[in-house]
Amino acid sequence: MISKPFSQACDNNRGPILRVLQQYLKAPGTLLELGSGTGQHAAWMPHFLPHIHWQPSDLPERLPGIRAWLADNRPANVADPLVLDMAQPWPSLACDYLLTVNTFHILAQDDVARAIQHAGEHLPAGGLFVVYGPFNYDGRFTSESNARFNDWLRQQHPASAIRDIEWVCAAMNAAGMTLEADQAMPANNRTLVFRRTAEE
Ligand SMILES: C[S@@+](CC[C@H](N)C(=O)[O-])C[C@H]1O[C@@H](n2cnc3c(N)ncnc32)[C@H](O)[C@@H]1O
Repeated sequence: MISKPFSQACDNNRGPILRVLQQYLKAPGTLLELGSGTGQHAAWMPHFLPHIHWQPSDLPERLPGIRAWLADNRPANVADPLVLDMAQPWPSLACDYLLTVNTFHILAQDDVARAIQHAGEHLPAGGLFVVYGPFNYDGRFTSESNARFNDWLRQQHPASAIRDIEWVCAAMNAAGMTLEADQAMPANNRTLVFRRTAEE
């Protein structure tokens, strides 16, 4: 078994994100987590959301790390992680909720657009897509630290960048989802809650 990967950001944001999920995920259902990363969220949050069946997913190279976290402390309501590339056609699976944390600034914008399109196809009417991360407003960074983070991101990968919330909302609208909430989070992040409003 490989050692558990660790993300400090994940450890810092798990409590604030959980509080938003507890506010919006009232009805029992299945949550598909996109880009689960280390697996820290999947190994912790579902303990406090017993009515939610949690399905972690990520690119294949991430699955051993997620499994290592789940092997240590697996909530009863978490499924084995599955391979899911957000930008490629998704496996057929039923879900009521989607969650993605800190992925929209990692994926290239075209891939984010594809992921949003797939999300719209998978969510039933009334389903929620919860998206956490940094976003720009009116084409501007919301803080100096976000501007520096964006420079760092682009050095890592030129296609990575903090996205404009207006662009995200337009892509979501085109996929049948509308913004229901935009909550300020610690460290200049936001949690966006989109609801699937119509069958396309
Ligand atoms: C910054 S990490 C965030 C991970 C985790 N959600 C967290 O909060 O710590 C970005 C994640 O996006 C995943 N990722 C990148 N491209 C992806 C894609 N095309 N499909 C699915 N996941 C992807 C990476 O493997 C990584 O786990």
